[in-house]
Amino acid sequence: ELKNLTSQYNISIYAIGGFVRDLLLGQSNYDLDIVVEGDIQLVISKIIDKWQSKVITHPQFGTSEILLNDRKRIDIATARIEYYEEPGSLPKVERSSLWLDLKRRDFTINALAMSLNEENFGEIIDLYGGLEDLTRKELRVLHNLSFIEDPTRILRGVRLEVRLGFNFEEKTFKLLKEAIENGFLNKIAKERLKDEIFLILQEPQPEKVLKRLEELNALSYILPVKRLPKNFEKKNQILRREFPEKLELHILNIISEADTEEGKKWLQDLKFPKKVLYQFILLKKYENTNTLSEKDIKSLLDLPNDLLLLLSLTAKKIGKNILRIKLLKEKGVPYLKGEDLINMGFKGKIIGDLLKKLFLKHYYGEVKSKEDEEKIIKE
Ligand code: CTP
Repeated sequence: ELKNLTSQYNISIYAIGGFVRDLLLGQSNYDLDIVVEGDIQLVISKIIDKWQSKVITHPQFGTSEILLNDRKRIDIATARIEYYEEPGSLPKVERSSLWLDLKRRDFTINALAMSLNEENFGEIIDLYGGLEDLTRKELRVLHNLSFIEDPTRILRGVRLEVRLGFNFEEKTFKLLKEAIENGFLNKIAKERLKDEIFLILQEPQPEKVLKRLEELNALSYILPVKRLPKNFEKKNQILRREFPEKLELHILNIISEADTEEGKKWLQDLKFPKKVLYQFILLKKYENTNTLSEKDIKSLLDLPNDLLLLLSLTAKKIGKNILRIKLLKEKGVPYLKGEDLINMGFKGKIIGDLLKKLFLKHYYGEVKSKEDEEKIIKE
């Protein structure tokens, strides 16, 4: 469809970046980045007509996002403004705006473009040797200052290294290590850092990315810890399996061994919701607790299952007990519900107390069935 537009309206369209990289690697990618040279509004309106999609424009960046169905997205960048001022020199500006776009990129494998134009559809534009690096499975920066100019590229690089199973090219790796050692990760603005951390968590293997960052001594610049917690990989996989969407829970696991004050400060600096801060404090409270009192059990009962699972993984001595509370809650004990107790003639606050008492009996293994519960209530 885009190809037809290019011949009809004298427009050039190129796919660029991760989409081209993944296409050449035979991997799926739902985000298509295109550079349009010519009337971008026309391209946008044609896409909307064709696929009834939603558009978000970012005028400050000269880009638009088109959201298609099935999670698919098209990011469109416009040609530079000079194009409109000098329509006579179209071919020259056309070329240079694509070049400029590619020149600003992080790694050679992300600086490939593919023509979507009728006359040479599918042709790869490879200005920096990205095709060769793709076959060598190497990540290579376009210039020596790449990580310094934008230190988030350190994190992007490690994500790609793990996700694609690539290696850093020798000189790039040296530059990466130097940028880390010289503290450039500290320069990432808090808001962006938070985004980058969430991107790590959404990788297919976030544990491996974090392990690699630990190995590179990069963790302490982005998190309130130098090392990952004990058995981190296993714990995080359990959390991801049971609660894949709860990324804040995964973060709490990662920082679970942080010093309490440092952890709190980090969560506040990165503007996590208050709820997350309280959950971190709770986690630290139970971290070294030796025994659970009845009062503890009653208050733990009010917590959501995701948090109980996390606590069961981070509380060193009473993890099993907390897990037991979670499992019992899931089983739906007590079997007697509030209305059963009302029918038995109970009223008011006592109902809640009785239900908690029944729960405790389950917790200590003293009751197994509804009949056992009824017997206790009668007594
Ligand atoms: N980019 C960059 N420096 C950054 C962020 C992005 O050079 N700090 C460039 C990269 O070349 C990337 C492109 O912008 O290819 C688009 O960024 P994004 O959509 O975030 O990345 P993708 O490469 O599509 O990677 P992913 O598969 O992780 O989405």
